Amino acid sequence: MGAAIADGKALASSIEKEVSRGVADLMDSGISPRLAVVIVGEDPASRVYVRNKQRACERCGIKSTLIEMPESSTQEEVIATVEGLNADPSVHGILVQSPIPGDVNELEVASVISPLKDVDGFHPANLGRLVQGDFSGLLPCTPAGVVRMLEHSGVRLTGAKAAVLGRSRIVGMPMSLMLAGKGVDATVTIVHSRTQDVESICKESDIIIAAIGRPHTIKPDWVKSGAYVVDVGISRMDDGELAGDVDPQVADVAGWITPVPGGVGPVTIAMLMENTLTAARNS
Ligand code: GUN
Repeated sequence: MGAAIADGKALASSIEKEVSRGVADLMDSGISPRLAVVIVGEDPASRVYVRNKQRACERCGIKSTLIEMPESSTQEEVIATVEGLNADPSVHGILVQSPIPGDVNELEVASVISPLKDVDGFHPANLGRLVQGDFSGLLPCTPAGVVRMLEHSGVRLTGAKAAVLGRSRIVGMPMSLMLAGKGVDATVTIVHSRTQDVESICKESDIIIAAIGRPHTIKPDWVKSGAYVVDVGISRMDDGELAGDVDPQVADVAGWITPVPGGVGPVTIAMLMENTLTAARNS
């Protein structure tokens, strides 16, 4: 029997409807939530992501402001833009799209965004709360979306063996902390480029989260029958098609799988909308 295919678009739509209701309530009390998105340079994939974020804002009734900076922008210029947005009381959420081209240090930029407006959840104060087991703040959108999808799937997370492939600041590391945290209670193995015997770690896992950005890497014979497989990767192939990190044939073995596109992506954006509403409520 083939895997159940998660419908990320449907879940995202129900989350966005809930956010829209919250936005309407907040507007009744005189606060009009606004997200500012900073994009540096012309990277076509980043442009698409940013457009999708702005469209989600429109669906939810959140105002959005796009700040476009040239590829040649210096770190000082990007930081000055962020500081201007920090000081603007009409802006509740700030996001600087990654990757930032050139020599700009993304960690420095993330640490300048006000933690209260940090809707990406990348500020050290917000990431640090995860280490302390506090998941009540602004959480990074992709891992938060993955947890939401797993909860929605009905899988038992308590005591489940989860392999997280990738240890990035944006996905893998916060993902691992959230899955291992109290209340979710999975047992997590972090798999990275130096890990030995990745296939057997995957094969023993009840849940696999693939976030490595290498198309079709996870093969059917790496996956336990009935496992829950989350595909965070999204790469464009030579023929123009989008591909995840998981080989499509894994669907013959897994019990549940997220598609690419239409899986984690839309739910990640819905989490950004939720974070923006939370930031506006806390303002
Ligand atoms: N680039 C890829 N994913 C993300 C994300 O979640 N936030 C930002 N700011 N940039 C990204």
